[in-house]
Amino acid sequence: MKVLGIETSCDECAAAVVEDGRTILSNVIATQIPFHAAYNGVVPEIASRMHTEWIDRVVQEALDKASLKAADIDAVAATAHPGLLGSLLVGVSFAKAFAWARGIPFLAVDHMLAHLYAPRFVYADLEYPFLGLLVSGGHTIICRADNFDDITVLGTTIDDAVGEAFDKVSKHYGFGYPGGAVIDKLAKSGNMEAFHFPMPRLQHKGRLCKTERNGKSGGGQKDEHRYDVSYSGLKTAAVNQLDLFRAAPQPEGGDKPEDIAASFQKTAVEILLRALLNAVEDTGLATIVAGGGVAANSYLRERLAQHRGIRCLFPPLDLCGDNGAMIAGLAYQYLARGETSPLTTTASARVKSFKRRLT
Ligand code: KG4
Ligand code: ZN
Repeated sequence: MKVLGIETSCDECAAAVVEDGRTILSNVIATQIPFHAAYNGVVPEIASRMHTEWIDRVVQEALDKASLKAADIDAVAATAHPGLLGSLLVGVSFAKAFAWARGIPFLAVDHMLAHLYAPRFVYADLEYPFLGLLVSGGHTIICRADNFDDITVLGTTIDDAVGEAFDKVSKHYGFGYPGGAVIDKLAKSGNMEAFHFPMPRLQHKGRLCKTERNGKSGGGQKDEHRYDVSYSGLKTAAVNQLDLFRAAPQPEGGDKPEDIAASFQKTAVEILLRALLNAVEDTGLATIVAGGGVAANSYLRERLAQHRGIRCLFPPLDLCGDNGAMIAGLAYQYLARGETSPLTTTASARVKSFKRRLT
């Protein structure tokens, strides 16, 4: 079964054809990054307009690269949530029109579930349950995956997403856009011990930690944020450091961008690791599947590889960021269960598909 997957949730206009949920026949990603770079961030209005201009050509290229015609496609899927509403609507409308015109099924797919699906293209032996680490410009989620659509959120960011922190720090320092990839590159030749940025100390209040929930132990200890993260403090500290540089002349080399990048990146990754290792310890799940743009980060990959007894699976770089293959691959799983979406389905900016949530 050949599924066309369309992804337009943010600033990538992407389409792919995937066979039987496993074999990527084509994966076309047209990035709008140069058009948003001047604004140091994605401008929603520009993004949605460019998607409308590009979508038919991107889909045609995906068909051409797969050596297929529209008539060869068995089903079409699009990201329906979460994301920028105007951008999502372009992909969803295009996919619904394509499905209606060809008389084939349409599937509305969740972007975050699709990021968790992406590693399955390369790790065919991957079995549930596992821990998911979803890290992008808009989300930071640590979750337990019991099936492709059965996800329990364990922890999230209480403020900024990790990718957002990378982007904002990069913007302030004028390093470039998008910030994650630029900081990652700069950090390779920087000293990560040059600046000591604070790790967040999250308030413990109210919610029971897992041991108490299971009635095993815990001794009245309450730990609401054992799997949560926070990035606003780190972001502010890194930005304030720039003001200090401006206020006081530095000895030569004292304000090297590489050192700032490496020190910021180190703390950003340590914050994630702390929450993630807590989740590994409490759930006993030692397989971690990472997804989202920040999963491309080389220091995150390096640090996780250092932990013996943990198997961390990262998608290849072209499947880490937003792409249509993950949408088509996940859609196939629904089709295999006989599920499709009605043509009345519309897009939504919010996260929708996490079935259960620990409270
Ligand atoms: O998943 P994605 O492509 O789009 C969203 O759904 O947000 O993620 C984009 C985010 C951006 O914040 C970008 O700066 C970050 O991923 N990113 C990285 C790296 N490459 C992209 N962050 C850290 N290190 C990287 N190498
Ligand atoms: Zn994404």
